[in-house]
Amino acid sequence: MKIISSIHELRDQLRGQNRTAFVPTMGNLHEGHLSLVRAAKAQCDSVAVSIFVNPMQFGPTEDLSKYPRQFDRDCQLLEKEGIDILFAPSVDEIYPYGQVAWVLVEGLSEKLDGRSRPGHFRGVTTIVAKLFHILGPDAAFFGQKDAAQLAVVRRMVEDLNFPVEIVAGPIVRESDGLAMSSRNAYLNREERGRGLVLQRSLQQVQQEFQKGERIAARLIAAAKEVFAREPQVVLDYFEIVDPDTLDPVERISQKTLVAVAAYAGSTRLIDNTVLNPN
Ligand code: PAJ
Repeated sequence: MKIISSIHELRDQLRGQNRTAFVPTMGNLHEGHLSLVRAAKAQCDSVAVSIFVNPMQFGPTEDLSKYPRQFDRDCQLLEKEGIDILFAPSVDEIYPYGQVAWVLVEGLSEKLDGRSRPGHFRGVTTIVAKLFHILGPDAAFFGQKDAAQLAVVRRMVEDLNFPVEIVAGPIVRESDGLAMSSRNAYLNREERGRGLVLQRSLQQVQQEFQKGERIAARLIAAAKEVFAREPQVVLDYFEIVDPDTLDPVERISQKTLVAVAAYAGSTRLIDNTVLNPN
């Protein structure tokens, strides 16, 4: 008999030979999603992907009904990547009785996107927890593009001792720099062009930071000047925060997240970059 008191050691003992990966998505797949699938394949023995447009993470006035669904195309893309399992449940399969038990990461869930989208992160953490229970992966892959989501999921896994390693993949961009997103499909030509202001504002902050600026308020002011030149894009938030707690940072002395959300027409776009003083 082995007596173990450390969670870490217990996990090592229990882990099977094969390392299984999971990539949760809402479909309408693009290179951002596929980059996560490829990272999962490279690091694990088998890969499962889910496609589920989760109604519980959409607000009552959000885009649930028009969210782009491209199931056949997604299947072809995933077939080409050589994944092992595609889990594509119906809403009834996931929520046969509705949902009264929730997973909530207090505090973090009300920051950044959570402030503008009340209830959104509660919906995300609940579905991610359910999918982790259903699929039981060793590792799960999430994009840095949704930096707040990543922080919230990491904290959920930490606080609830999910036996899952969270792996983050870098932001994949279009050739002109726009961060790839399923929602980019909503943009008309003009909005698509204007949407580049998010990345321009982040680049401006990176430049000022490289020149030595460390005061967050000044970096934010520089970013807002960039937005002022694109008045048709309405800023939701531009924040400089700790990447784990999502709390605002006044002076940048360690790895710091710069996150932005803005509306081009009725489409909400997000993007971010990391400042690293070391
Ligand atoms: P979805 O928006 O489909 O994104 C699925 C995963 O792809 C997320 O981890 C997201 O961060 C990542 N991703 C999206 N665009 C990316 C890009 N340009 N570069 C890199 N990664 C990118 O996020 C969700 O779905 C849902 O909230 C979900 C986690 C599936 C829960 O319902």
